[in-house]
Amino acid sequence: MTTTEEIKKGLAGVVVDYTAISKVNPDTNSLLYRGYPVQDLAATKSFEEVALLLWSGELPSESELTEFCAYERANRSLDPRVKAAIDLLPTDCHPMDVGRTAVSVLGANNPLAEDSSPEAELRKAKELFAAFPAVVAYDQRRRRGLEPIEPREDLDYSQNFLWMTFGEEAAPEVVDAFRVSMVLYAEHSFNASTFTARVITSTLSDLHSAVTGAIGALKGPLHGGANEAVMHTFDEIGIDKDESREAAAARAKAWMEQALAEKKKVMGFGHRVYKNGDSRVPTMKAALDRMIEHYGRAEMLGLYDGLEAAMDEAKGIKPNLDYPAGPTYHLMGFDTEMFTPLFIASRIVGWTSHIMEQRAANSLIRPLSAYNGPEQREL
Ligand code: ACO
Repeated sequence: MTTTEEIKKGLAGVVVDYTAISKVNPDTNSLLYRGYPVQDLAATKSFEEVALLLWSGELPSESELTEFCAYERANRSLDPRVKAAIDLLPTDCHPMDVGRTAVSVLGANNPLAEDSSPEAELRKAKELFAAFPAVVAYDQRRRRGLEPIEPREDLDYSQNFLWMTFGEEAAPEVVDAFRVSMVLYAEHSFNASTFTARVITSTLSDLHSAVTGAIGALKGPLHGGANEAVMHTFDEIGIDKDESREAAAARAKAWMEQALAEKKKVMGFGHRVYKNGDSRVPTMKAALDRMIEHYGRAEMLGLYDGLEAAMDEAKGIKPNLDYPAGPTYHLMGFDTEMFTPLFIASRIVGWTSHIMEQRAANSLIRPLSAYNGPEQREL
C-alpha cells in the first residue's frame, strides 16, 4: 500500500534525470546555460549565439555563427501549407492553438520528420527556430486585419521578428529588449513543457510531435500563459497613460490586497523551484525599465512596483520571469494574447535541446500511480 507521503504530487522535488543543458540553482538564484550565467549571455550575446550554445554545448566560432545566421535567414518564409492551415483557424481562437497547429503542419510536411539521427534532429530544430517567428507575425497581423509582411534577410532574428510583425524597423533599444527576452525564455531545465517534450520523445516519437505537445503544456496560465495573464491583471487594475507613477502604484497595491484577501492566485508571481526570486527577473526588469523610459510610460512602472511590493509585504512571494516580460511585450505593441507564442519562439531552442539529449540516452518515461478507486467487484 502506497502512503500519501510516498506520493510526489506534481513531481515536486523529484529528480528524474541528468541534464547538461542548464542548471537552476534556487539557493543562489542562478541559472546557467551550458555553464554560462544567463544574465551574462543576455548582456553580450545574440539570441542566435545562445541557440547554438544550447544545442551544441559550446558558443559558436565566428564562422559557425555566420553559417547558422545565413541558414536561419534563408528559412524564415512562411510555408504556404502552414499559411493555408492557419487561414482555416478562426481569428478568435487562442494564438497558442495557431502555434501548436503550425508546428504540427511543419512536421507533417518535413521530409526528415521521421529521421531521428542527431544531424536530422539539429537541422529540424534550426528550421523550426527560423520558421516560427513568421507564424507569430502572420497570426498577429491577420487578427488585426493586416496583410502579412515578408521577412528581410538583411535583418537579424529580433529585428526581423519585429519587422514582420509591425512593418517598421524597430528602434535599437526595442530590438535589444526583445533579444533579452528571447535569451531569458530559451531554457529552464525540467519545467512542465520541457518535461512534456521529453516524455513524448521517450516513446521514440518525432521532434515535431514533442514540440507540439510542449506548446500545449506551455499554454496553461500556471506556466507560459502567465505572461499573458499578467497583462490581464494590469488591464483589470486599469492602465491610464496620464496617471502618475505614484498614483498607479497606490491603485495596484490596493488591487493586490483585495485579490489576496479573496485568496486569488496572482499570475506572474511564485515559482516551483525559486522560492526567493527568479534568477531571470532582474535582467528582464532592467529591459522593461528601458522600454518604460523609451515609451515614456511611468504609470506602468507604478503598476509593476505596486503589485510587487504588496505581494512581497503580504506573502513574501517574488515575481517570476513572466511578470516583467508581459508589460515589456505590451509596450512593444504586441496584443496580449500573442505573448505566450513569443515564449514558444524562444523556448523552441530549449525544447529541441532536451529532445536531442533525451534521445541520446533514452529511457521510456513512465511513472507509477497509486490506485484509490473501488476494489475489484462483480459485474
Ligand atoms: N499568487 C498568490 N498566492 C500564491 C502564488 C501566486 N502567484 N503562488 C503561490 N502562492 C501561494 C499559494 O496559494 C500557496 O499558499 P498556501 O500554502 O497558503 O495555500 C503557496 O503560495 C504555495 O503555492 P503553490 O501553488 O503550492 O506552489 P507551487 O510551487 O506548486 O507553485 C506556481 C508554483 C504554480 C508557479 C505558483 O506560484 C503559481 O500558480 N503562480 C502563478 C502562475 C505563474 O506565474 N506561473 C509562471 C511560472 S514561471 C514561468 O512559466 C516562466
